Amino acid sequence: MQIEKMKVVVTGAASGMGRAFALGFAEAGAGVAACDVDVEGLAALAEEAKGLPGAVRTYTCNVADEQAVEAAFDQAWADFDGLDGLVNNAGIFRDALLVKKDRNTGAIRTMSLKHWQQVIDVDLTGPFLCTRAFAARVVENEGGPAVVVNISSISRHGNMGQGNYAAAKAGLVADTVLWAKELARYGIRVAAIAPGFIDTPILQGMRPDALEKMLKGVPLRRLGKSQEIFAGIRFICECDYFTGRCLDIDGGLRL
Ligand SMILES: NC(=O)c1ccc[n+]([C@@H]2O[C@H](COP(=O)([O-])OP(=O)(O)OC[C@H]3O[C@@H](n4cnc5c(N)ncnc54)[C@H](O)[C@@H]3O)[C@@H](O)[C@H]2O)c1
Repeated sequence: MQIEKMKVVVTGAASGMGRAFALGFAEAGAGVAACDVDVEGLAALAEEAKGLPGAVRTYTCNVADEQAVEAAFDQAWADFDGLDGLVNNAGIFRDALLVKKDRNTGAIRTMSLKHWQQVIDVDLTGPFLCTRAFAARVVENEGGPAVVVNISSISRHGNMGQGNYAAAKAGLVADTVLWAKELARYGIRVAAIAPGFIDTPILQGMRPDALEKMLKGVPLRRLGKSQEIFAGIRFICECDYFTGRCLDIDGGLRL
């Protein structure tokens, strides 16, 4: 596929990587349907995208809400006269150990069901709802070429304190493989990217010493850039023989 001709939905486009992806697509000339729950962030993105070759339209949409997703895809499909790309990027984390005993008081703390469910809802159910909405419309309208890119994480291998997040991100790669198999007959490719530690607002709040310790495990000894993850998205969009695989873009980090 030629990226400059694409019409692509980017979820979680108001901040961090999603914002960089939306701007990257628009700089290349693609039409972008930018979805997020952050209304102010979307407005700032629309402002920044003014004058770029590709149009950026914004949609307020909680990816975990079935009705909101269906409505956003109906609207975006109509606004762009069809869609041929989806980047499932919206994500959250709510870290906690499964069970932890306080060293001083002996009190037991656990990961709450609420935090388990919130992460599963946004990071796994969200991509399911969006991919289903996207694929159903593509298939109904004579099929692809079309492409879905799921943003997983290197944490899917099992990062301590992230039982909810690792389950969601591992599940997303499992579904990437089977969606690729199920949807190939309709001309829809599905792939994933598993970023390592990327320089986004989430990490910018970290203490410098904690960040330095974290980077010791990364052979390239630095954070990745959102643009380096976008380079992976560009490759997946443009390589028509790539489907059902996950690209680890992590500076060599192994968990
Ligand atoms: N930053 C990293 O180091 C890193 C590493 C691996 C994977 N990831 C993944 O990359 C993706 C982007 O991460 P980021 O660092 O840019 O985070 P970020 O917090 O900067 O951006 C996430 C965006 O998703 C939006 N969002 C949250 N819940 C939503 C919902 N229910 N519906 C719609 N939008 C919602 C937020 O409003 C925000 O704009 C996430 O899926 C994250 O898990 C990040």
